[in-house]
Amino acid sequence: MKYLEAAEFQKQMTEKTDAIEKILRDFLPKEDSFQKTIFQAMDYSLMAGGKRLRPMLMQEAYYLFGNGQEEVLRYFMAAIEMIHTYSLVHDDLPAMDNDDYRRGKKTTHKMFGEDMGILAGDALLNYAYETALKGALKATDKDAALKAVQILAEKAGIYGMVGGQVVDVEMTGKALNTEQIDFIYRLKTSALLEAALMAGAVLGGADEKEVACMEEIGRNVGMAFQIQDDILDITATTEELGKPAHSDEKNEKTTYVTIYGLDASVKAVEEYSDKALATLESMPKQNLYLNTLIQKLVHRKK
Ligand code: IPE
Ligand code: IPE
Ligand code: MG
Ligand code: MG
Ligand code: MG
Repeated sequence: MKYLEAAEFQKQMTEKTDAIEKILRDFLPKEDSFQKTIFQAMDYSLMAGGKRLRPMLMQEAYYLFGNGQEEVLRYFMAAIEMIHTYSLVHDDLPAMDNDDYRRGKKTTHKMFGEDMGILAGDALLNYAYETALKGALKATDKDAALKAVQILAEKAGIYGMVGGQVVDVEMTGKALNTEQIDFIYRLKTSALLEAALMAGAVLGGADEKEVACMEEIGRNVGMAFQIQDDILDITATTEELGKPAHSDEKNEKTTYVTIYGLDASVKAVEEYSDKALATLESMPKQNLYLNTLIQKLVHRKK
């Protein structure tokens, strides 16, 4: 497996993140009208920072195949970060995880009130599809673009992120077996990472088999990512995370760490990540930045 050298990776990561920030800013509504509070709340939550992992994975999956219109890809990159951000805004609401900080700032409902927090999530979700469909209308390969929209919708919805959050909420405070916790993580976290990789691949001209490989990579990256999120909830500080540490304990969440312990969880992150890298290595084309990104996620500190 080939990787980028650390300094080169860091340099590219900064450039890519900056480029994604610009795309997000370009797509946000800028009018100043009666409903301006919703524009402000969307801007506040979307531009608060964050690793921008999902649009980044989408772009790198696209480059792995590289046969499409980057102009169209940009709409989908913005859309998936809007969907992800909406999921965080709602996840932080008092009725859910009741957290006051996100991405180093006050959560949207703390800043704008619970009513606007709910509406900001709704707004980002709808605007995500509005944006993706605008992109699809510009595509020369309309079938591929529509397929990408369908992937986003399915993976964000009841068979994906929302479905996972439902079981996460329902099972709060209860013991979970392996099957149950894996189900929750695969849906609440892997699904959007799968969507990022799959939609990027589809827009880059990947065939069905290749898209299925991307789904598998996303599933394993997502498992590693959520288990690492659980580990950091315990081992990192609020300052490091930009969101409250010990949120899971506060909410009596059963996590990978509470079931298997810290050491086994660290090992599980490595194992899931290695599985993802092995699938990536089996692809006919290589993207060194993508290899390195997935490898480095194992040791992320935020
Ligand atoms: C947080 O996602 C929610 C989880 C799925 C664990 P990220 O860790 O990607 O959050 P941001 O986008 O960087 O804020
Ligand atoms: C939430 O998992 C994943 C989502 C779909 C938002 P968490 O509740 O653990 O995410 P954080 O720790 O608040 O970011
Ligand atoms: Mg949660
Ligand atoms: Mg949470
Ligand atoms: Mg968490």
